[in-house]
Amino acid sequence: MEPLGATTVFLVICVSCLLFFSAWRKMSGSGKLPPGPVAFPIIGNTLQLNTRNLPQSIHEVRGNGERWKQLRRFALTTLRNFGMGKKSVEERIQEEAHFLVERLRNTHERPFDPTIPLTHAVSNIICSIVFGDRFDYDDQKFLTLIKLTEDNNELLRSLLGQLYNFFPTLMDHIPGPHQELLKNSEELRIFVLERVKMHKESLDLSCPRDFIDAFLIKMEQEQQNGQSEFNTENLLRSTLDLFLAGTGTSSTTLRHGLLILLKYPDIEEKVHEEIDRVIGRSRSPCMADRSQMPYTDAVIHEIQRFVNLVPMGVPHAVTRDTHFRQYVIPKGTTIFPALQSVLGDSREFPKPEQFNPGHFLDENGAFKKSDFFIPFSAGKRICVGEGLARMEIFLILTMILQNFTLKSPIDPKDIDITPLPSVVVSSPKPFQLCVLPR
Ligand code: HEM
Repeated sequence: MEPLGATTVFLVICVSCLLFFSAWRKMSGSGKLPPGPVAFPIIGNTLQLNTRNLPQSIHEVRGNGERWKQLRRFALTTLRNFGMGKKSVEERIQEEAHFLVERLRNTHERPFDPTIPLTHAVSNIICSIVFGDRFDYDDQKFLTLIKLTEDNNELLRSLLGQLYNFFPTLMDHIPGPHQELLKNSEELRIFVLERVKMHKESLDLSCPRDFIDAFLIKMEQEQQNGQSEFNTENLLRSTLDLFLAGTGTSSTTLRHGLLILLKYPDIEEKVHEEIDRVIGRSRSPCMADRSQMPYTDAVIHEIQRFVNLVPMGVPHAVTRDTHFRQYVIPKGTTIFPALQSVLGDSREFPKPEQFNPGHFLDENGAFKKSDFFIPFSAGKRICVGEGLARMEIFLILTMILQNFTLKSPIDPKDIDITPLPSVVVSSPKPFQLCVLPR
């Protein structure tokens, strides 16, 4: 059968099953089901499935199991600088931001699309954290690593990729581009495995250099523990998780940010003033500056609120029959947290559809925290990379604006900052900009 024909037949079967199941549940269920196709009621936020996992792990639901708990705790503590040697995460981001600024300077005020420079910079930060060092932007291995990561992210976002996530066993038998997921993942695995071997050969237990060293040391420490989740397989998975989840997210947020600032030069001007007053031009921005920069902080929060990068979060499953308002959500139902219902709540953010840093400022111009700021979701499954992403966005954006004024090749009035419609990751419309040295 033609790949497209097979896919269509498969889709028709899936939809029919869902409709039949929906009708059956409505007739036989004990409580009222929430609105929406029965398999995917779009509310709430419970815990279980994660589309961001490697395709290999698509085949197993980690749930809130012991493996997830241990590996998540390890990733969190390592990303907070524990067990990763002398160079802090902040220093690694600052180092990369310098290389990015030099790359932007080399555009010599000509218009360019910022997608690739931003993706390379953010991906290199993860390389530095995981492998101990960054790559040159033209390093062939680095470019292959990024291409495979981006291709897989793209595939996971596609319809077939999503279906593969939900029906892996069936989809294994359906031809189509989603089959590339496993091939790409295997190549990524081989790349990381090579690095792990190199790390093992030069490992100094008393002096970890990066995430891989920290993990290897943990493996040593847990050798006698038969239940330990710290093994080479999980090291590969955790590393690749960081790449898959951490590259496109922060770099796309930064791209949205640049477009929004091109649209509103008066807002950019105020950020420039704050940078000049608090940081000056002779040293690099650091995280300690943020508390003295309420306007910049508010602009960044508003960028994240406005773009709502992961509009449907990632799918979770209800672990027990759950009563929600007048509805019953049966155990096992897949649900998506619709983050816009909070990020766009007009009780907290007047005129939520407008970009307005005032949403995060009080009447004295001080930064105003909001519990409705949940672009990283909420609860115990909240994004592991939140701390890293917030550092990346603050340091990279302030470093760019410390060095350059942004200029749009088209009239700012004609710039459309509305994100492209997507339920997976919201991207800005393609654009070009010029950066003029300050
Ligand atoms: C602006 C940037 C980012 C945004 C908006 C974002 C958003 C999210 C969201 C909404 C989730 C789903 C949480 C849930 O299941 O309820 C998530 C999960 C996750 N994110 Fe991020 N993320 C960002 C950056 C990063 C970075 C830089 C990394 C890693 C280096 C990362 C790693 C992860 C991982 C591993 C998970 C799965 C956590 C788990 O299942 O326990 N993210 N992220």
